[in-house]
Amino acid sequence: MTKTPHAFFRPLAIGAPEPFREPPVKVERMIHFVPPHIEKVVAKLAGLIPKVDVVLGNLEDAIPADQKEAARAGFVKLAKDNDFGETGLWSRINCLNSPWVLDDITTLVHEIGDKLDVIMLPKVEGPWDIHYLDQLLAQLEAKASISRPIQIHAILETAEGVKNVESIATASPRMHGMSLGPADLAASRGMKTTRVGGGHPDYVVLADDEGSSSPRKAYQQDLWHYTLAKMVDACTSAGLKAFYGPFGDFSDPDACRAQFRNAFLMGCAGAWTLHPSQIDIARDVFSPPVEEVKFALRILEAMPDGTGAVMIDGKMQDDATWKQAKVLADLAKQLVA
Ligand code: GLV
Ligand code: MG
Repeated sequence: MTKTPHAFFRPLAIGAPEPFREPPVKVERMIHFVPPHIEKVVAKLAGLIPKVDVVLGNLEDAIPADQKEAARAGFVKLAKDNDFGETGLWSRINCLNSPWVLDDITTLVHEIGDKLDVIMLPKVEGPWDIHYLDQLLAQLEAKASISRPIQIHAILETAEGVKNVESIATASPRMHGMSLGPADLAASRGMKTTRVGGGHPDYVVLADDEGSSSPRKAYQQDLWHYTLAKMVDACTSAGLKAFYGPFGDFSDPDACRAQFRNAFLMGCAGAWTLHPSQIDIARDVFSPPVEEVKFALRILEAMPDGTGAVMIDGKMQDDATWKQAKVLADLAKQLVA
């Protein structure tokens, strides 16, 4: 299997005559998590499928231990019963040292291996985890005569995984991308929090107060900036897509939007949606704003061969901003395709 770098993230063509090289990847703005053992959620799936870019059947955390078999069977059934059209079909399997994972992998490939696009592997610590899944998938796909390889998406959610992020990204041509898992990562690092993503009111820097009589201002900092940046660099340099993971406070759509927006600006392609209310937020945030696309198109038009320097609205544009403009224009083109 050969890997094609994602044109959306890597506008490679310098001086290219065609500003719109065909982007080879699907838009995956929201990976929508479904608990396959809960019948009332599964009953609404047919209506949900056209509204999301990816449906993910979750078999790992948040599925109680005594419901693992029911979730796996429920996912197989919903995969068989529904037509997913353009919507991606993924599953988050249990972690590699769990009692359920071998049955997860063998059942999914045997039963729905021809429909399943991506397996999300949690708690990846190093390339060895990807190698193991890669080989197992190769054996099972051969046995089931599946010709389209199932891709692997790693969750970056352990300190060891963050340390090895670059070798995880390049561990297999099956690698689709990676998601930041802030909840497990917080536990793995020994962070003193009880949250699923987002900020923390105590993670602040205080402004200097020299000569001021007013109370010192505290500026909240981003707990995830370092890891997100590290993951985006590892992914994009390997031709993969990077994603922000879950945002657990469903009562705070503004904070969810801000977290997703940071990820989008930093280079992520999408985020997980755990609650239906987060779907529209992700669609909105991970689609480039119309005004920015218009401006990007003006840059591409002003520099047809992608070289030189021009002034637009008082701002200098050159080869580097042409490439940035192409990222936005390519994404916009994918969305209207
Ligand atoms: C996701 O799995 C997380 O741990 O944040
Ligand atoms: Mg996790």
